[in-house]
Amino acid sequence: MEASKQQHLPAAPERVIIPFIEGDGVGREIMPVCRRVVDHAVAKAYGGKRSLDWTEALAGEKAFNATGNRLPEETMNMFREYPVGIKGPLTTPVGGGVRSLNVALRQTLDLYVCLRPVRWFRGVDSPLKEPQKVNMVVFRENTEDIYAGIEWQQGTPEARKFLQFLTGEMGVTKIRFPETSSFGVKPVSIEGTERLVRAAIKYALKNQLPGVTLVHKGNIMKFTEGGFKNWGYALAEREFARETAEGKLVIKDVIADAFLQNTLLTPEKYSVIATLNLNGDYISDQLAAMVGGIGIAPGANINYESGHAVFEATHGTAPDIAGKNTANPSSLLLSAAMMLEYMGWNQAAALITNAMEKAFIKGEATHDLARFMPKGKSLGTVQFGDKIMNEMD
Ligand code: NAI
Repeated sequence: MEASKQQHLPAAPERVIIPFIEGDGVGREIMPVCRRVVDHAVAKAYGGKRSLDWTEALAGEKAFNATGNRLPEETMNMFREYPVGIKGPLTTPVGGGVRSLNVALRQTLDLYVCLRPVRWFRGVDSPLKEPQKVNMVVFRENTEDIYAGIEWQQGTPEARKFLQFLTGEMGVTKIRFPETSSFGVKPVSIEGTERLVRAAIKYALKNQLPGVTLVHKGNIMKFTEGGFKNWGYALAEREFARETAEGKLVIKDVIADAFLQNTLLTPEKYSVIATLNLNGDYISDQLAAMVGGIGIAPGANINYESGHAVFEATHGTAPDIAGKNTANPSSLLLSAAMMLEYMGWNQAAALITNAMEKAFIKGEATHDLARFMPKGKSLGTVQFGDKIMNEMD
């Protein structure tokens, strides 16, 4: 890494520059609350010795109004320069031609891990009988798989050419309706698998978690999903033999559909999950729904080699409730707590999560959660932020 980046690396300095994208819709409400709560937690944890220097990076509607461009190059440069940043949700404009910021950041910074921790907070309504047993961290591969976007639409010359290649040169005979098929290609590589599984294993070891489960569909897709499983096991044997022998690490695997069932029946069997892109998409949403849903699920996109990490609210701009001071800031706040942990500022992170749980136990939350709590009291976005800060004091 170049020197300019090193000096911004999160672990060392006491004052860290954090580029933030406010976001569209409810982003304008939850980001200010998030910043206030995080500053409060940092001040409380470190008595003024550490602080965050929030620097706004424009994107979305705000950027369009100011510059005529939804994703100015300057914003990309800020995220290139400073390794740790955070973003609110952005509207995906209808119609083509607009580059998504998420995709741009992911590709430019090669953020190969989509990290989604899933835990239950006491007081939050859950469809499970024993939600306290849910405590998992999903490492979803972020750069490969069917998401690589290699597709050809039915009826196009490209689809016809691809079909000719499959049938003529590759000897494929099993396509049921060849003339009316669209085609997609699913690349899954050794390098892509190894860096993802390595990151998951290191996370498990660092946090003294029992092990990593490789979730795949290798019974059907033997070389892509099956490859993921085999390369994952091989990497663990090669690079983490000592930890495995000492009993600090257990690697296991499970077929994706069985995993989705098991997470409902025996969630306590799983801690760190490593999985491919598409499986990870389904899994993250199901697990989030098990512990309170979209308003409370945090996330990050990370490259553990370069150190670049972008933390984000996982929900969208919620246009139906925007501007009403009812949006739940918890997803963004918990993402900010993940960011603090990533920087090694664990004490400040714990203040936020503990205060949030205290509020939930008392039945105080934004409307999306409070309405399902016995004796729940609905607070506005701003008031919920105040409540969390009060609980810290
Ligand atoms: P959405 O996540 O914005 O909303 C889905 C439902 O969840 C709505 O009923 C909404 O009110 C509720 N909800 C979402 N966040 C909430 C919060 N913090 N507190 C309380 N309730 C909340 O998804 P939708 O409606 O499909 O998308 C709206 C816009 O957001 C679209 O333009 C979409 O492209 C964009 N989007 C952006 C994302 C991002 O920037 N990462 C992710 C998902 C969607």
